[in-house]
Order: sequence, then C-alpha cells, then structure tokens
Amino acid sequence: MKPDFAEAFPLNFSPPVNLPFLIAKKRDGGELSDAEISGIIRDFTAGTVPDHQMSALTMAIYFRGMTPRETAALTQAMMESGDVLQYPANSPPKVDKHSTGGVGDKVSLVLAPLLACEGLWVPMISGRGLGITGGTLDKLESIPGFRTDLDQAAALRQLEKIGVFMIGQTDRLCPADRKLYALRDVTATVPSRPLIVASIMSKKLAENLDRLVLDVKHGSGAFMKNREDAILLASELAEVGRAMDVEVSSVISPMDQPLGRTAGNALEVIEAVETLQGRGPADLRDLVLDLARRVCPASREDLAGRLHDGSAWERFVSLVDAQGGDAASLERPIHAAPFQCDLRAPHAGVVASADAGIIGSVVFELGAGRRDMQDAVDPAVGCSAIAKIGEFVEKDAPLVRIHARTQSSLFHAEDALRCAFQINSQP
Ligand code: URA
Repeated sequence: MKPDFAEAFPLNFSPPVNLPFLIAKKRDGGELSDAEISGIIRDFTAGTVPDHQMSALTMAIYFRGMTPRETAALTQAMMESGDVLQYPANSPPKVDKHSTGGVGDKVSLVLAPLLACEGLWVPMISGRGLGITGGTLDKLESIPGFRTDLDQAAALRQLEKIGVFMIGQTDRLCPADRKLYALRDVTATVPSRPLIVASIMSKKLAENLDRLVLDVKHGSGAFMKNREDAILLASELAEVGRAMDVEVSSVISPMDQPLGRTAGNALEVIEAVETLQGRGPADLRDLVLDLARRVCPASREDLAGRLHDGSAWERFVSLVDAQGGDAASLERPIHAAPFQCDLRAPHAGVVASADAGIIGSVVFELGAGRRDMQDAVDPAVGCSAIAKIGEFVEKDAPLVRIHARTQSSLFHAEDALRCAFQINSQP
C-alpha cells in the first residue's frame, strides 16, 4: 500500500533544514528564503544544527552579506525564537538604548537608571563582550552577587517597582541571539552588518518598546571602522525598527579613543558609579545625556540634575539591590588586580592618539574578553586613567595605568600600549 502523504507529512511538520545545502547557497551568493531562514534559526535554537555548521553559515554571511529581506527575516526569526515581553495596560512608555559596541562603553550603566528616574520603563536586554568590545552583562557581573538571569516574571515585577531591569538573553527571551552571539564572538564573524542588525533588533523587538535610541559607533575600537559604514548600519537598524512600529533614532559616535578613562569590567563600573554621582568624565556624561534626550522628553538640564542630585545614583543602587548585587561594594574598590603599573609619556606634548583598537585588544588579552564560548572573564583586569586626545602631558606623566593578573601579561600589555599613544611635541 502507498503511504498516505498527509500522514507522513502532517500540516504542522516542517522538515529539518539541510544546512550544507544552505551554506553552499549563501557561499555562492544566493538569497535564502524566509522559510529557510526561520528553519535555520528554529533548528539552531533547538540544538539540532551544530555549532560548526552555523559557524560556516555565519562566515558565508560575513562575506556575502544579506539582502534587506533576508535581514528582516533573520531578525524576525531570532525575535520569535522566544517570547515577546507583554506589559500591563496603561504602563509608562517603554524605552531603551543599544550600542553597536565599543571600548570603555559603560553608558548603559548610567543611562538605564537615569531614564527610570524620569518615570520611563527601561526593560534592558544586553549582551556580553563581543571581540574587543566590552559587554554590559560582564560589567554588571563584576558586582558581587549581581544576577543577570532573572526570569520574566521577576523582571516584570522589578519594572513595576523601580522602572528598570538589566538582564541577558535567556532560554525564553531571544535564545537564538544568546547562542549566535556567543558563537560569533569566537569565530570572527561579529563585524557583519546583517548579523549585527538581527542581533540588536531581535533583542530590542522582544522588549516590545515604544522608543529606542541606537548608539552607532565608528573608529578603530568599533566594528564599523568609518563613519559612512556607521551611517549605513544606523539606517538598516532603523528600517527594521520602523517596520515593527518602534520609534528608532540614532546617535553616530566616534570610537577612536575609549569612552571615559577606563576599559575593563570592574574598572568601568567604578567610572559609571562616579558618573552617577555627578563626577565622571565629560565625554561619558555628554554621550549619556545626548542619548537620553532622544527617548525622554525631559530637558538636558533636568537630566544632568538627576546625575548631580543623587537620584540616578540611588536608582542604580536599587537596581543592584533588586538583582542580588552587593550595593555596599560599589563604594569601595571591588576587585584589585595583583600587578599594576603606569605607562609613562616618553616626552612632553599633546596626546594625539589613544587608539581604542589597540587599548581594546590589550584589555582583551589581559583577560577581560573571551577566546572560547565557555571562558570566564577576569573582572579585575584592564586599563584606567587613560589620557585623552588633546590633553597636555609632561615627560614621564602617566598615560595609562595597567591592571594585570600576571607579571608577564603586565609586560606584554605595557609593550603593546606604547603603540596606542602618540604624543605630539609642542612647537
Ligand atoms: N550588540 C549586539 O547586541 N549585537 C551585535 O552583534 C553587536 C553589538
């Protein structure tokens, strides 16, 4: 007897994807269909597409790119790999920001509590470090006890209570990005516009936002090396957001030197705390205020006032408390790397470069980033007191303080960092 087709292939049956065939299609410049893309993401999330095949596919995407239709389908499939947050009726506007990644970028730690002080809800889903760029989750987890894996019910309760949570992708929220993000990080496939768009927008669309501001960075410490590519990336991100009814705006910001004066997980938390307490470096505070203004109706002066009157700081303490962190540890050095030294200026002059790409790579090599998906990051290592472009330094003045786990990594970092700084002698 002939088998009955409907019995063999019931309506809800979708056959597993044939990954070698789809990798070859993309490798040879073909366009993947919506069904192929959703099948790939479904099977990868379920664990039936192995990492080696997904790595090959992401490398093919890296070289061949994706059409706008493919990028939109990938974003949607990744968003739909998990739940989309739902809020009570008449809840405040939901807003967020996302950065395309930079060195010393601790903006989220300051901005999220600041926006919550304005009565907005900030349901922030962030990522870990990617390549040489740091990740908000790794920074937050350098606070003893801080948990970034809240379940949805706890996260929503926290939103109702203090207006902000900061968590990572979970098994229920963007699980596809959680897996793909980790894989891209260790396979040199991060700097691909369609993969960045889908990664960022799937997380932000799963947050079900009203308004989103994007900090799109360009320069040696960013994935987009020039401003033109950053503008293109910003427009691709905005296009996906608009198609899904989210008000998206963007700030194109330079990443030729690190943001602020620190790079490294715990060191950046200290600088974020200083900024929340009305101190902190001017470039960080200015960028926080620029981004806040895009999603919040309050004036720049009022927002700056929240950094000076202690209210943003108090909200950050509530956030740390609510997510299990030891808020008292924020007021004293949290981690101290055992080996520290200053790199000093070889002569007097004006700092002409403090290369974010080199500084980011050094911080990564010191142990702040991951070579493999299972690697733990070292919270204590990194750079602090980084001299800024345009500053005058005397001969032998410190250009940067290095924080290392071992003596040999300290020496390597010191050597590599010499190339990061260029000092122009005064005429
Ligand atoms: N941030 C993300 O969430 N994903 C990327 O791919 C890059 C930056």
